[in-house]
Amino acid sequence: MSNTSAPRPDAGREPLAGHFDREIDLSRVPVHVACVMDGNGRWASARGLQRTDGHAAGEVALLDAVEGALELGVKWLTMFAFSTENWRRPADEVRYLMGFNESLLVRRRDELNDKGVRIRFAGRRDWRVPRRVLRRMDESEELTSSNKRMTLTMAFNYGGRAEIVDAVRRIVDDGLRAGQVDERALRARLYHPDQPDPDLVVRTSGEYRISNFLLWQLAYSELVFSDVLWPDFRREHLFDAVREYQRRDRRYGGVAR
Ligand code: IPE
Ligand code: IPE
Ligand code: MG
Repeated sequence: MSNTSAPRPDAGREPLAGHFDREIDLSRVPVHVACVMDGNGRWASARGLQRTDGHAAGEVALLDAVEGALELGVKWLTMFAFSTENWRRPADEVRYLMGFNESLLVRRRDELNDKGVRIRFAGRRDWRVPRRVLRRMDESEELTSSNKRMTLTMAFNYGGRAEIVDAVRRIVDDGLRAGQVDERALRARLYHPDQPDPDLVVRTSGEYRISNFLLWQLAYSELVFSDVLWPDFRREHLFDAVREYQRRDRRYGGVAR
C-alpha cells in the first residue's frame, strides 16, 4: 500500500542553494549523467548559418552543463561528442569537428583542471582520428588525471556496438573459455570499467533514440528527452532533467518500493 501522506524521509534536507531551483533533492542526485548533445545543425540552419557554426555554438552549452553538474555534485558526466557513424558526414564537417574538438581541449582544459574535473575519452583511437587530436586528448587526460571532483568523459569516435565488439575481442585475446564469459567478464573489458552505469541520460533536439550511445551501460538508465537544441542547452535544462529523474521510480525489474 502506498503511503503518500507520510513525510518523505529526506524532507527538510538542504535544498540546492541559489536562484535556479528549490526542488532538487541533493541527496538523490544522479551519480552519472550522460548527454547526447544533439541539434547543432538544426540550430544553425534555423539561423541561416552553417552547420559548423552550430557546433561552435555548442561549446557554451557544454561548459554550462559541466558547471551545472558540478553545482549539483554529479560525479561522472559523459558527453557524446562524435559517434562512429558521424564519419558519414560530409568531409568538411568531419574535418571541422576534429579541429573543433582539438581546439576546445586546448582552450578549456586549464579551466576544467582548475575546477577539479578529470577529463577522459571513450572511443576508438583509430587511424581516422588525426594524430594531433589524439595527442591533445592524451595531454588533457594526463593534465587532469589526479582530479577527483568530477570525471568528464568525452565519447569521441565512440559507438556502443564498437565498444562491445572491442570488449569481445579482448575476451578472445585473453583466451577465455565460453563458460568464463559472463557479464562481469564483458564489463571488465569496456573502455572504462571503473565508471558506474549512467543513472540519467539526456538527449536534446527532440529525437527519441539512443544512436549507438553506451548500449551496454544504458540497460537501466532513466532517459529524459528534451526539445531544446544543444546550443541552447543550459544548466537549468540539466536541472529540469534531474528533477524529472527524481520523479522516476527505478525498479530494475523488481517491484515498486
Ligand atoms: C550534434 O548535432 C553534434 C554531433 C553529432 C557531432 P548535429 O550535428 O547532429 O545536429 P543535427 O542533429 O543535424 O541538428
Ligand atoms: C548522436 O547524434 C551523436 C552525437 C551527438 C555525437 P547524431 O545526430 O549523430 O544521431 P542521429 O543520426 O540523429 O541518430
Ligand atoms: Mg544530430
